[in-house]
Amino acid sequence: MITNEFWLERWQTGRIGFHLEGINPKLIDYWPTLAKQSRVLVPLCGKTNDIIWLAEQGYQVTGVEISSLAIIEFIGDNDLTYETEHKGKIKIHHINELPIRLIEGDYFDFQENQFDACYDRAAMVAMPTTLRKKYVEHTLARLADDAFLLLISLFYEGEKQGPPFSVDDTEITQLWGSKIRKLASENLMETQTEYRDGLYTLFEESVWHIDQK
Ligand SMILES: C[S@@+](CC[C@H](N)C(=O)[O-])C[C@H]1O[C@@H](n2cnc3c(N)ncnc32)[C@H](O)[C@@H]1O
Repeated sequence: MITNEFWLERWQTGRIGFHLEGINPKLIDYWPTLAKQSRVLVPLCGKTNDIIWLAEQGYQVTGVEISSLAIIEFIGDNDLTYETEHKGKIKIHHINELPIRLIEGDYFDFQENQFDACYDRAAMVAMPTTLRKKYVEHTLARLADDAFLLLISLFYEGEKQGPPFSVDDTEITQLWGSKIRKLASENLMETQTEYRDGLYTLFEESVWHIDQK
């Protein structure tokens, strides 16, 4: 079962194969130019460097992550300093050098809303079937009516069990609503050798957006 303890243990034992060095090229390619100071939500952020890239574009970035270790590593890896505020069940770490807040706690306890945009990479697909609908509803409830969403999803066929979980196009449209559009797909088996280990017959990464403009 995928519980919060599962993720805490993954961080404690360093099993974080999902973490990418550098910035995700799909974020750079598909993120639009939004108004400076736009509030961008990054659910289930791990220690992704994509947060740094978004902050450097002039946005106010809020990452939410259950693992204190992930947050400590993000701060240490990027030579940052911070102040911490306690708010109910969550801790808010304000980064001094960049417009970044890291929320430490269970995403479902995070109740701020009216975000202008959301970046979901390896967050929806980290959620098991039982929690996926709740995750998407909770995320949509955090966003302003005209918010922008960039989602990177996975669809695979083969032996592997998640996470990451395989989510097909029909489920994505059912979960996120009829405004979501697929922008691009890449079969990672064709472009990255590590996916050719016999576990899959297809491993497709797709980029989706909801763009209300
Ligand atoms: C697959 S990783 C993806 C991390 C990041 N988005 C990236 O692209 O590197 C999923 C992350 O979600 C965190 N997580 C899982 N369940 C969570 C929850 N309920 N609340 C907050 N964080 C959670 C895990 O600790 C893990 O760092």
